[in-house]
Amino acid sequence: MKLRLDKYLSESMPGTRSEVKKAVRKGMVQVNGHTVQKPEYHVDTENDQVLFAGKRVVYAEYEYYMLNKPSGVISASTDPREPCVVDLITEPKRKDLFPVGRLDRDAEGLLLITNDGGLAHRLLSPKKHVDKVYYARVRGQATQRDVEAFRQGVDIGEEKPALPAGLHILDSGEVSEVKVTVREGKFHQVKRMFQAVGKEVLYLKRLQMGTLVLDETLKPGEYRTLNRNELDKLC
Ligand code: URA
Repeated sequence: MKLRLDKYLSESMPGTRSEVKKAVRKGMVQVNGHTVQKPEYHVDTENDQVLFAGKRVVYAEYEYYMLNKPSGVISASTDPREPCVVDLITEPKRKDLFPVGRLDRDAEGLLLITNDGGLAHRLLSPKKHVDKVYYARVRGQATQRDVEAFRQGVDIGEEKPALPAGLHILDSGEVSEVKVTVREGKFHQVKRMFQAVGKEVLYLKRLQMGTLVLDETLKPGEYRTLNRNELDKLC
């Protein structure tokens, strides 16, 4: 792909486009061993070698990270007051990363972080019906009646009931452990579904989104890039 030099640089390293332009004009950038002082110069993202102040700058059109979101962090790109999930990606190449879908501040687990808007749309569009699987601990005894209610679609206070969802009881007691599979991503979806059957979610963790499964070797707060196989399946 051919790209203006200032765009290539501003999308690949810290600094605004105008700061980058100034640096190019000052002669701080080399393309294939030659100093280039024109920000409008076009580089080939696959074949040209770009150096800024002597250091290689590699262009990545898209980046994909799997994060095990910890509790206490909000699902946003930036926030002036709160720590955000994108802040946990410590060496991003891109500045336009965002989380695909939200997890509540107190929820943990799988969060895809990318700058690929097309993929995000395909995963989040209600029409695409992408399954999301959660592990939850809930206060109260989970029963077959709950399973049936989820299968039918519970009333979560919206115009229409929630879409049919899968509820698998792992352990039932004063506190029950369950796996829930939902196709929607409404605000507090799982918590409201349990509220509808008289139970409170005490802990919530997303395990899967479509074909993407949380890598359980990632501790809360840790992340890694998606591998080829995961990307092929998602895309
Ligand atoms: N459902 C919830 O209630 N919370 C989440 O974070 C995700 C799904």
